Amino acid sequence: MAAILGEGLPGNRPRQDYSPAMQSLIKPPAARGKYVLTKAHQLAAMLINERLNQADPGSRATGLYGPPGTGKNELAEQMAIAMEMPYYSVDCSNSVSSEALTGGEVLVGGETKTALGPVAQVAASGGVVCINEVVSADPSVMTALHDMVAERRITVNAPGSEARYIPVHPDTVFVFTWNPGKNGEMPGDALLSRIRPIELPPPNKADMQKQLASTVSSARGYSVADSDPLIAASAELQVRLGQLYKKNAIAREVTSRHLAGVANWLMHRRVLRGKLDNQDHAIALKQLAALCDQSPGILEDQKRDLATTYYNLFNEQGTKLGLTKQLGPDEF
Ligand SMILES: Nc1ncnc2c1ncn2[C@@H]1O[C@H](COP(=O)(O)OP(=O)(O)OP(=O)(O)O)[C@@H](O)[C@H]1O
Ligand SMILES: [Mg+2]
Repeated sequence: MAAILGEGLPGNRPRQDYSPAMQSLIKPPAARGKYVLTKAHQLAAMLINERLNQADPGSRATGLYGPPGTGKNELAEQMAIAMEMPYYSVDCSNSVSSEALTGGEVLVGGETKTALGPVAQVAASGGVVCINEVVSADPSVMTALHDMVAERRITVNAPGSEARYIPVHPDTVFVFTWNPGKNGEMPGDALLSRIRPIELPPPNKADMQKQLASTVSSARGYSVADSDPLIAASAELQVRLGQLYKKNAIAREVTSRHLAGVANWLMHRRVLRGKLDNQDHAIALKQLAALCDQSPGILEDQKRDLATTYYNLFNEQGTKLGLTKQLGPDEF
């Protein structure tokens, strides 16, 4: 990864050049360990690298789009790790305001001072700023983002006085991510013309197994094989959910992240007790349900689809995964 993303790029400044707050956003090189460089990620990394290597700081903005859980954020974060730069990620779908991103004027001891928002702080001191679900950004947020990317400046608006401009650090890289969904939503042309969007396709099953095994291994602290039946079944569950997702039967929020959590739980139980039983699976299903409940987009019948898929799949795998006939989708 470092060879693809770290060479000739901005960054790699000594840590002490950053403020303590920024230093806390720099992840150690050891965090590269769990990253699985699939062919798709490799290609995306090469394209990004080519772009970031251009002398013009205006080219230090890129886009990554694709279905959930394809590693858009992971790739952006790995870039920051390779460049030893702070990484900050913000989600536009949480109705974030432009002031929250860029900051505003505050009164300190009778004097007005500029208090930069978190995105602006990273942008001004040099880092990787990841802006997610940019298709949901409201117009004022889009304007603020466009200013940072196109003009390389942070606009701080203050009521009753003129706006202040703070330069974006030349090293700063902006990564925009979005999920085109079933309607193929893309950001507006003004932004698209500034970034070179790269599609991250859903991983194939073998890559999924590698990624899941890597995520579960780092969560558990011991090495879990890609071929472990639990990992294989969880990857297959992801493939089937992807197929359901295509038909829009499952809302988009159910991702590999959720499945990694479930695989992690089942792995823990299996190691603890030497086997799995229906209760373990029922708890795993409850966890999936709880995750669905956190995502308001998911409907009751979509949850049932999810449970049925889980039940059928783990049942097909037979006693290897310790599931017996008694557990049905009603447990969900
Ligand atoms: N190449 C990889 N190697 C190891 N783990 C990965 C890889 N890609 C993704 N992951 C893991 O898969 C999960 C989902 O990845 P990530 O959050 O980057 O997806 P995303 O494309 O940003 O999804 P969303 O659209 O839902 O935001 C994370 O736990 C991440 O650590
Ligand atoms: Mg993401």
